[in-house]
Parts: sequence; C-alpha cells; structure tokens
Amino acid sequence: MAKVIVVYESKYGNTKQVAETIVEGMNEIERIEAVLKEPKHVEPTEVLDYDVILIGSPNHIGGPTRGIRKFIDKLGKIGLEGKPGAVFDTYMGGDFNKAVRKMEKRINEKVPGLKLITSGLSIKVGGTKGPIVEGELPKCKDFGKKIASQLET
Ligand SMILES: Cc1cc2nc3c(=O)[nH]c(=O)nc-3n(C[C@H](O)[C@H](O)[C@H](O)COP(=O)(O)O)c2cc1C
Repeated sequence: MAKVIVVYESKYGNTKQVAETIVEGMNEIERIEAVLKEPKHVEPTEVLDYDVILIGSPNHIGGPTRGIRKFIDKLGKIGLEGKPGAVFDTYMGGDFNKAVRKMEKRINEKVPGLKLITSGLSIKVGGTKGPIVEGELPKCKDFGKKIASQLET
C-alpha cells in the first residue's frame, strides 16, 4: 500500500475534482491511502510520512496560486531526498501548461530532492468557474495510474 499526499488549491472546485480523479486512477493500480489537503493545513515535515506528493493548482495569471508557490518554497527547507512527486494544474485558455511548468521549475530550483516522476498534467476548464471540459477527466485517471505504476512499494 502506498501513502499519497495531494496538496492543492481550488477556488471553484475544479482542481479539487482533478485531485480526486487522479487518486481514483492511482487506486485502480494499487491500493493507496490518500490525503487531500490545502497548503495552509500542511506542515512541510508531514510530507516525509508519505511515499509520494502531488501538488496541484489552478492557473492564476499564468502560474500557480500564491499559496502553492509559498508551499513549494517551504518544502525547500526540509530535505526530501528522492521523494517522488508530480504536479498538475487546471487552466482556461491561452497559457497552456504554464502553471505546471512554473511549478516544476520552482521545485527543481528550490526543492531539488523532490524527484518529479512524470511531466505535469494540465486540465482544461470551460470558464473561470469550470466545468472541466469533456474528455479531460480520463486524462486525470491515466495520470494517476501512471504515477501509481511507477511507485516502488
Ligand atoms: C484570478 C484568476 C486568474 C486566472 N488566470 C488565468 C490564466 O492566466 N490563464 C488561464 O488559462 N486561466 C486563468 N484563470 C482561470 C482558472 O484557470 C480557472 O478559474 C481554474 O482552472 C478553475 O479551477 P478551480 O475551480 O480549482 O479554482 C484564472 C482564474 C482566476 C480566478
């Protein structure tokens, strides 16, 4: 069994739904114990108790939310040597992939011990409040399956 922590922000619930669907996908491969939390409720050292960390954010002005940026910076203060992780975002329009790319860049710079095991997932929503565009949720499941199949537990 793998223990997973998903740290996410979600103003309108879409990124939360993505987080939940990724967890569903993981569960199809391996029985996991998942905890979903907002960054303000996570002590960085808590992450040490989990086998994998996923970080998700809506795209806010071309990047992750301030709460997620701050959380990544806080993770940099603890050693996460070799801890597997991955990022995901939701976005509405033109800035395709930007939030995940920025999260990955920030992690590589500030939390080099966190090992990104797959390229980040970007999920499209139909408007600021959603909904998630048709055909996007299966990608979340596949992403979860891909991560679970890479865990050595
Ligand atoms: C303040 C704000 C800024 C946003 N900026 C962008 C943006 O630059 N690019 C984009 O594609 N979507 C942008 N969006 C749309 C969000 O991506 C969308 O609201 C989000 O994916 C919905 O996820 P949530 O329900 O988890 O909050 C923005 C939304 C808000 C509220």
